[in-house]
Amino acid sequence: MKDFIREILFSEEEISRRINELGDTITREYAGKKPLLIGVLKGCFVFFADISRKIDLDCEIRFITASSYGSGTITSGDVKVGMDFDFQIEGRDVIIIEDILDSGVTLTALKGFILQRNPASLKICTMLDKAARRQAPIVADYIGFDCPDEFVVGYGLDYAEHYRNLPYVAVLKPEAYS
Ligand code: IMP
Ligand code: MG
Repeated sequence: MKDFIREILFSEEEISRRINELGDTITREYAGKKPLLIGVLKGCFVFFADISRKIDLDCEIRFITASSYGSGTITSGDVKVGMDFDFQIEGRDVIIIEDILDSGVTLTALKGFILQRNPASLKICTMLDKAARRQAPIVADYIGFDCPDEFVVGYGLDYAEHYRNLPYVAVLKPEAYS
């Protein structure tokens, strides 16, 4: 698997340090509250597991699915959201936990769904922010790292469902796509 890595953008150590900082910030800013953490599967799974354990508060934890990418690397713009919402959003302090904010199409759709259900507050926490590619006017409240305009894998992020288990964020060599 490592033969296909062109460059490591964010190492395991860097990510861990940054997650500690973000966890501290969220813990401080939500003191006295019981936030509802909503993870956007599947890409969030590694980041979610790490950051949720650095938030020292009584949290409710839920997951939803959203996908727009199929097995390619370009957004189709057609977001498929899978959520039953068998849980209460009204009156809750919701934090959406995402792997990467790219075009913003996915999060704009999710934000709409959640805001319709009258949360007390809604914030977005993303591990990576690829601001150069934004199509929808959306900004995250908590950002792990600014990400260059490259297709990245690892730490939960996939290419065609592979590479999610790399312990760092990396860019693939061109031959990985053939
Ligand atoms: P958006 O709707 O374009 O913001 O895309 C968000 C989703 O696309 C993320 O949750 C990822 O699953 C996927 N995605 C966007 N950029 C990348 C990337 O560089 N690598 C892997 N997945 C990505
Ligand atoms: Mg994906």
